[in-house]
Amino acid sequence: MLDRILAKRIVPVVVLDSANDAEPLAEALLAGGLDIMEITFRTAAAAESIERIAKAFPEILLGAGTLLETDQVVRAKEAGAVFGLAPGLNPEIVAKAKEIDLQFSPGIMTPSDVEQALSLGCQLLKFFPAGAAGGPEMLKALAGPYAHTGVKFVPTGGISSKNLADYLALPVVAAIGGSWMVDKKLVADGNWSEITRLTKEALAAAAAVGA
Ligand code: 3PG
Repeated sequence: MLDRILAKRIVPVVVLDSANDAEPLAEALLAGGLDIMEITFRTAAAAESIERIAKAFPEILLGAGTLLETDQVVRAKEAGAVFGLAPGLNPEIVAKAKEIDLQFSPGIMTPSDVEQALSLGCQLLKFFPAGAAGGPEMLKALAGPYAHTGVKFVPTGGISSKNLADYLALPVVAAIGGSWMVDKKLVADGNWSEITRLTKEALAAAAAVGA
């Protein structure tokens, strides 16, 4: 799983108001070369969207984001998500994900958060909100004492094609997350070609790192 996240190094963070947009959005991302998605449980359409994408596009590595309640963890897995994330670290959510065998990445922002996550057995952590928390410089300093543990991070929040390379250049960064290429307005307008274009642009920027 980590290998697949590492391969493309970009996780689009999706908020869908209507599950009818799920398949065309997945198609637009695939056309841009991205076969991974995080569908957030911020709308009532989340579970159905995951279900529809899992059915229509089994090649997509599907994650569920913003998992704030244990029943959302269960619904995400039942719908077909294979990994989960949250903006913060809630031990109850971590425990439920472990119980039902859903790979889960809690959100962290401080050394204490990182240590709690490690003690709960989490090795891939969402660094959120990355930009506001201090960006790549902050993450580099935060991760320094923990590099030997093998912990990896997915910074999210305030990232776009313009600055993703600064994060991906850090060895502790597995991938970055972001909503810019799947912006709500683009989805509402059905602007799938622009989503595909932004996806290609993001992947090119990521591929250029270390090239
Ligand atoms: C998230 O939940 O990960 C963030 O809302 C995404 O942040 P962004 O919109 O700044 O990319």
